[in-house]
Amino acid sequence: MRPLIRTARCWLLRARVRAMATLPMASPAAAIPSSATRPVASPSSRSHRPLTRFFSVAPAPVGAKGLRAAASAVEVGGVKIAREDVVKEDDPTNNVPDTIFAKIGLQLHRRENHPLGILKNTIYDYFDKNFTGQFDKFDDLCPLVSVKQNFDDVLVPSDHVSRSYNDTYYVDDQTVLRCHTSAHQAELLRDGRTHFLVTGDVYRRDSIDSTHYPVFHQMEGFRVFSPDEWSGSGLDGTAYAAAELKKTLEGLARHLFGAVEMRWVDTYFPFTNPSFELEIYFQDDWLEVLGCGVTEQEILKRNGRRDHVAWAFGLGLERLAMVLFDIPDIRLFWSNDKRFTSQFSEGKLGVKFKPFSKFPPCYKDMSFWINGAFTENNLCEVVRGIAGDLVEEVKLIDNFTNKKGMTSHCYRIAYRSMERSLTDEEINNLQLNVREAVKDKLKVELR
Ligand code: PHE
Repeated sequence: MRPLIRTARCWLLRARVRAMATLPMASPAAAIPSSATRPVASPSSRSHRPLTRFFSVAPAPVGAKGLRAAASAVEVGGVKIAREDVVKEDDPTNNVPDTIFAKIGLQLHRRENHPLGILKNTIYDYFDKNFTGQFDKFDDLCPLVSVKQNFDDVLVPSDHVSRSYNDTYYVDDQTVLRCHTSAHQAELLRDGRTHFLVTGDVYRRDSIDSTHYPVFHQMEGFRVFSPDEWSGSGLDGTAYAAAELKKTLEGLARHLFGAVEMRWVDTYFPFTNPSFELEIYFQDDWLEVLGCGVTEQEILKRNGRRDHVAWAFGLGLERLAMVLFDIPDIRLFWSNDKRFTSQFSEGKLGVKFKPFSKFPPCYKDMSFWINGAFTENNLCEVVRGIAGDLVEEVKLIDNFTNKKGMTSHCYRIAYRSMERSLTDEEINNLQLNVREAVKDKLKVELR
């Protein structure tokens, strides 16, 4: 399985060093019940400026096909977002398609009976139990953020690949759809927060397969320590925070997975140092479950916490939920089909999903001569724009350059509905439309 934190073709320059020990796990844990209701953000005893712009009203309804009517608007975190605020076809600095606008405000992680909501609440339970009343919770922060929040505030270098139009959805050259929940670290620190969990939808341009979707959900955790907390420990601040971080996350992994084997892997993030990934051994394979590390001093210094240390982690909820609930395809999280939604209920983590029926995939190949501007992410965006969630995978199966220096790519597109059989006619039509759109939008020469 590809890592949660996108690499190579996408992002996060990782220098992985498989150096850390494998940790044998202790006690087994069963499915964990979660408490009934939770406030969006736990009231804090400290006095904070209210984050009014962060709290929202109900998500906007969507049409039968999942695409919102063009004129409608949605309100998230107190911010009203209309289509024209996000999709600007004539603006070359904008690359947000309607399929993405349609997802804003759905907030799957706030549905108590949805696998993502159940998982979020189970993680909340762990923090409530082990750090009673300490962590402030946010799950309704607006996903439209500035380039500064998403990148500069967390020290992402100006030439980092994640800033490219190929990887990130830009509303304009100053505004993006957040590509990680780390985008909220700096503002929450400035607001005086020292312990917080931020859950939200995040957006990344990417290729298509059963574990990747351009919108997914992350939870960020952040904890600040003051010097008096580590002074008696015999460790320096960084070592203390790293030890606390590992202890906290190993406990979380046990809370979610029971007695699993885990290991720490050194890695690189621009905002933490040292940085780690936690992997668990699951179904005969090492699975990356989260990225984390000790927060760069510069971030603390800039945001009112000089002389403190902190840890941070970011985990992908779909990645964990697919494993915990046996959900085979990431598109299912977006399904409104009762045969999917009725299988999950509040507090029941780890109920295994029973596929309601299996429909066969249908494969269509298309070959074309690419041009210098071609990218696979752009291709996938076009294919999704036509076929929506009926496209299961887009895979490069042939690639060659001829004597004249022209490069040909052949992609195999797998079409499959999660909910019904597709007719030949429907698929042939889709493929025809995909071919036309690819030719028009990407200016490639079909073969
Ligand atoms: N923001 C990182 C990502 O999305 C995850 C992360 C969060 C890593 C916090 C370290 C600390 O890939």
